[in-house]
Amino acid sequence: MNEVTSAETGDLFSKFDDLINTRETLLSSGIEDPYNLVMEKVLSPTRAVCNGRDTILLGTYNYMGMTFDPDVIEAGKDALDKFGSGTTGSRVLNGTYQGHKDCEDALIEFYGMDHAMVFATGYQANLGIISTIAGKGDYVVLDIDSHASIWDGCAMGNAEIVPFKHNDVEAMEKRLKRIPEGAKTLVVLEGVYSMLGDVAPLKEMVRIAKEHGAMVLVDEAHSMGFIGENGRGVCEEQGVMDDCDFIIGTFSKSVGTVGGFCVSNHPKFEIMRLVCRPYVFTASLPPSVVATAATSIRKLQHGSNKRAHLWENSKRLHSGLLDLGFSLGTETPQSAIVAVIMPDLTQGAMMWEALLKEGLYVNLARPPATPANMTLLRCSLCAEHSAEEVETILGMFERAGKKIGII
Ligand SMILES: Cc1ncc(COP(=O)(O)O)c(C=O)c1O
Repeated sequence: MNEVTSAETGDLFSKFDDLINTRETLLSSGIEDPYNLVMEKVLSPTRAVCNGRDTILLGTYNYMGMTFDPDVIEAGKDALDKFGSGTTGSRVLNGTYQGHKDCEDALIEFYGMDHAMVFATGYQANLGIISTIAGKGDYVVLDIDSHASIWDGCAMGNAEIVPFKHNDVEAMEKRLKRIPEGAKTLVVLEGVYSMLGDVAPLKEMVRIAKEHGAMVLVDEAHSMGFIGENGRGVCEEQGVMDDCDFIIGTFSKSVGTVGGFCVSNHPKFEIMRLVCRPYVFTASLPPSVVATAATSIRKLQHGSNKRAHLWENSKRLHSGLLDLGFSLGTETPQSAIVAVIMPDLTQGAMMWEALLKEGLYVNLARPPATPANMTLLRCSLCAEHSAEEVETILGMFERAGKKIGII
């Protein structure tokens, strides 16, 4: 008798069959599952016990190492004691505590902008802001490599979506020229693109967007805290803060907790609190989370020494990996992310496992999250990695790379 495939039975899961098969083939080779790693103990921002092994963490977004900062921890414990474990309500009803206001004030101070709105996650910040401001009949011009939350925000708002080639200033301008006269346009960019760790040419892009009368939103998820003199991100570094209408960010990376936000100088911005569905129709962050975020953000303002050390780490890892013969996502170190390009998924997964056995955790990234069908071992450095740890990491890459035959 012929086997009945799930496609024939009307099973709505049939669309996942290819992915299920790829995954089963990979795991049947006996490889450890790259997407099911358990951290049994977290010892510091850079160390954990993973699948039973003492491991150096090189695949977290803990860029500034704030997760174990004593002041941050203390603020969280204090808020837990004084305000309880959760708000059980939306920001527009019973879910705004003093801590949420304080967290928004910390963001206003950090960015020097007029308004700040905190969301449950960075994903929801993009989803909410983009879908609310760019609706049917409006246009969103965006980089083709934009984060999933940006694409989902565009889809939810139902605007006309006009993508352009990654980081290509001319392609962006061409798209803007084709927008019908009188239509309202939002240009969406990121400071650092998280897969390859490359920086956007915001100076030219923001100028061109403004010349075409567009509003500009920049997602600084991977640059906040690290890039720019005060850690405000690539907008600060390239001198375009004043021309950005919205900056989106997250607490899940340099800030070291969870949550998302949008800051803006737009005089009508506060109306977003009533019309933005992913803000209104969900419970607000727990008091302990906003307290840790506010404390962390205020400390990041004075983090210039940590920023300098993180740059040293990024430069050393980048040059060391190039010298070993690995292909990297960027020619020069541009951020705290150093992406190592793998020949294919199988060798990528083998290399990932070999590194884990050495005691090093990195992210295995694959399509559709990656551009151009690439398999990447994404390394994200932390300001708390010591110079010696970076040397140890390079030794691990050398041994694993030779074992798998990639170098
Ligand atoms: C560019 C970008 N924007 C937004 C997000 C979402 O952030 P969060 O983890 O707070 O949902 C991410 C997360 O990886 C991201 O890379």
